[in-house]
Amino acid sequence: MSSNIEGFPFSEVPGTEVGRGYESIVKELGPNWVIKEFNPLRPDGTAKYEKAYENSQTQKTVGELQETQRILQQATVYGEHIMPTEWVLGQDAEGNPKYFTIQKRFAGETLKDIMVPQNEAESYSARFTKFFNENPELRTQMIELLWGTKSALVETGVFPDFHLGNIALTKEIDGAESLKIFDLQNMVKNRKLLYEDTNRSLSTKLNLLGSIEKHVTRLEKYHKWLGITEDEKKLFDQKYNLENNLYENTVDRILTMSGEINTERDIPSEVLTQISGIYPFLNEAEYNSYMEKAT
Ligand SMILES: Nc1ncnc2c1ncn2[C@@H]1O[C@H](COP(=O)(O)OP(=O)(O)O)[C@@H](O)[C@H]1O
Ligand SMILES: [Mg+2]
Repeated sequence: MSSNIEGFPFSEVPGTEVGRGYESIVKELGPNWVIKEFNPLRPDGTAKYEKAYENSQTQKTVGELQETQRILQQATVYGEHIMPTEWVLGQDAEGNPKYFTIQKRFAGETLKDIMVPQNEAESYSARFTKFFNENPELRTQMIELLWGTKSALVETGVFPDFHLGNIALTKEIDGAESLKIFDLQNMVKNRKLLYEDTNRSLSTKLNLLGSIEKHVTRLEKYHKWLGITEDEKKLFDQKYNLENNLYENTVDRILTMSGEINTERDIPSEVLTQISGIYPFLNEAEYNSYMEKAT
């Protein structure tokens, strides 16, 4: 494959922007692919810290993301619901090694776009419930995603970046619809920061624990809105090897740890809530959640 830019390992150049998130600016790459470029800005327009780009380019970071993807691709986690990300080594304008992140382009909306209430009277939860009741096949897939998310927590001690803005509703050529998760966050690094790296600041750990709490709440909400029955819970617990309340017990253990950090430090809980809401946000979802509370 040749390219018209030195060091750029693709025959097509990045085209129109198709979306952006906390981590990346996403652009067309030819008709079938997208390229995810480093987003240098935070959502409030300020610059990220100076080493952020460099860190995103290390062999270590790319290795951790690949390991994250391997974990999530297991059949007992997300399996086929993962839309694979690929990393291609090339060079930047200065000739330094650079990883280019690419992915097949999906046509279709994210669940976040789909869940926008259709009129003033419609609540978010009612829209969610109605959408999945009308699409039982997708409801089953959403339950699979919930159980895959729980399974990921049990395996690693941290959550994937699970929110509706990271799930696409895609259509196959034969018309079959499926839910695909297209965004990875570095779970391997988060796991190390939370459980291994004792030198890291308290606020990093609290941010991670805050994110875990938010995910637990989010999963509970979706569980309720989907109207998951006891029988369904049993069935999926079995399928995902989460019998005997394995997920619930894992959550208890982690949140107990969170309580212990708080007591040890003897910090008032309002301050802790504030700290965990302060920059650097972990990702777009945390930022959104913060903004929701702030406004
Ligand atoms: N493979 C893709 N095909 C089409 N659009 C995409 C694709 N990946 C991402 N996007 C668009 O770009 C936005 C941000 O992408 P995402 O991977 O979630 O970045 P971030 O990690 O910064 O959150 C998405 O909400 C979506 O609109
Ligand atoms: Mg995203």
